[in-house]
Order: sequence, then C-alpha cells, then structure tokens
Amino acid sequence: MFVKNAWYCAGWDYDVTQAKASIVARKIAGERIVLFRKPDGGVVALEDRCAHRQAALSRGRKEGTGLRCMYHGLKFNEHGKCDEIPGQAVIPERACVRAYPVIEKDNWIWVWLGDPKLADPGLICFSVGPSHPGWHIKTSKMHVKANYRLEIANLADLGHLAWVHENTVGGSRKYCEMKPKHTLRARGMDTQYWLRSIPPTAAVAHLFPPDMRVDLSFDIQHTIPCNWIMHFRVFAAGTATEGESNGQLLLDSYTCQAVTPRDEDSVDYYYAWGPSNATDAPGLADMLKDTLDIAFREDADVLEAQHIRMQEQPDRKMLDIGLDAGPGKMLWLLDKMLKEEAAAATPAGALV
Ligand code: FES
Ligand SMILES: [Fe+2]
Repeated sequence: MFVKNAWYCAGWDYDVTQAKASIVARKIAGERIVLFRKPDGGVVALEDRCAHRQAALSRGRKEGTGLRCMYHGLKFNEHGKCDEIPGQAVIPERACVRAYPVIEKDNWIWVWLGDPKLADPGLICFSVGPSHPGWHIKTSKMHVKANYRLEIANLADLGHLAWVHENTVGGSRKYCEMKPKHTLRARGMDTQYWLRSIPPTAAVAHLFPPDMRVDLSFDIQHTIPCNWIMHFRVFAAGTATEGESNGQLLLDSYTCQAVTPRDEDSVDYYYAWGPSNATDAPGLADMLKDTLDIAFREDADVLEAQHIRMQEQPDRKMLDIGLDAGPGKMLWLLDKMLKEEAAAATPAGALV
C-alpha cells in the first residue's frame, strides 16, 4: 500500500515547538511516529511505541534530548536507544525504538520511512514555504477520511474544478477541455495546462469587472507519495492561443500541498497558497488560504463518499475517460515503485 523509501511530510514546522507539552503523535503510512524538538531546536522522530510494553511515547515527557515513557519510566535518547531503566542497572541491547531520518525544509517536517541509508535529502520535493523570500505564503491543514490514491487521482486531474469547485476555484466547463502536457519523472510527473479567456472563478470574481476574462497557467510538480506543488499564474486575457499569455500578469502564486496517508483510510493534508511579493495586495494571501480551506472541504466531501463506496465494492470494474490520463500515469508510477520495493525486499531465489 505504501512506498517506504520516500520522504513523507509530517506537518508544518510550527506544529512541533519547544514547549514542554509539544510532543506530537503522527501516524504516517501506517507507522506510529512521535515528533519533538531538542533544546537546540532539532526535530527528533521516534517510533511512538515503547520497547517495553508498547505504551505511546507521545504520552511521555521530554528530558534533555530524549523522551521518557511515562508508564514504567524507560528513557530513550534521540537515536531511540534506551539509556535508563528505573530500578535496574542492566539495559538490554534490544531496549530501543526506531529513530527515523528527519529533515526540515521549506517550513515542512519530512520523515523518511524506509532504509536510512537511502534517505537522500535531494529527493524532497521542491516547495515554496512561508519563510521563502519573495512570496507571501499562508498555511493550513485538514484531515480527510479517504485513501491517498483518491487524493493522487484528484490532484492529477484538474477537470474536476468544473464541477466540484463550481462556486470556489473552478466552474467553467473549459477545465474539462484543457489539454494537459504530462511529463513523467523517476518519482513523479510534471504537468502543464493553459486555460485562456475565461471568467475569473467565483471566489475572486468580485475583485474584477463583470466582463473580465483571464488566461490561467498551471505548472504542477507531482511527487510520490502525494506531494503537489503548483506555480499558478493569472493574466488579463491576451491574444496568444499557444505558449505564454501576452496579457498582463495579475497574480503570480505558489500553492504547495503535501498529502500524507495516515493509513489506508485517511490522510493528513498540509497545504499553503500565496502570491509573489510583486503581485501581493493587503488581505490577498489570507483570502487565497481561506479559499483553499473551503475548496479542499469540497474535495474531501467527494472523496470521503467515494472512499466508502469503493470499500463496499472494491472489485467493481470502473470506467475510464479521457480525464483519467494524468491520474492513470501517477497511479501507474506509484504501483511501479511499490512493485520495485517489494521485489527488492524479496530474497533472491525466493518463490513469490
Ligand atoms: S511501556 Fe514504556 S516503560 Fe513500560
Ligand atoms: Fe479539488
């Protein structure tokens, strides 16, 4: 179900603070993980399951650079090794919990679930976070009770903006007629769309004259497992029908989204949107972020109902249409990576 040799977003940097009580429990791709900050500010990610009797370490207490389980008092250091068992001097070799490679980048916390030797920071997707100079980015998050494959498919097909988001960030049938250019990469896909001469979407229409028309440019980087970065630009409608719009650039923005599966049935969705400083205006970044909160609830309502139906009839044969091309490519890539990991984990010569 989950690729393990990948960086998974564990949340925004501000989710994990220096506060005594800031010991954050996460479930990521089925694994229980506890996050906390050391006094020097570095983030530690340990298995959230005490080596003694599986109590939750996230219910424990920070002590220096380590964490003490508050059931029988075993203390684990930042590398997951137990360095104290109250009431006994001998500490068994296997008194340890797993420590995960963890990196902070672009205001996100990233955790590597697979072989630590393969944890290449260069595999973390490009992103633009709130501390990025040149951009005014606002952040948010949401829990969605749907399998992450449904989120991958949702984000790889912007045709759904016509229907799901008709009152927020979509609405025109032209979203279904876009001819996206998909380019597969080793761990993801780049997609580019142009949509020309359409009315501004409902969420922003009040900012423009009633007969206004705009050209929209979508440059998207999808990365396995489900990270989605979009450079989104809005131009006053120009006369170009191919290539770059020749209209005036009205909005230059990034929306960065990390959809992290908790397990087979739900995801934690960390997202942001914001304009470049050059196209910013007072209140604009907040409006964009608030718009995403509403729009992603619209997606969540669709996906949660779809998830329930797919659980009821998992083997039902489904219909493919033209808009499924992008989702098909991303899910094909995910399945390929899953097969490759499974093959690498199977001993040579074993019968499968
Ligand atoms: S379960 Fe953690 S110390 Fe016993
Ligand atoms: Fe959507």
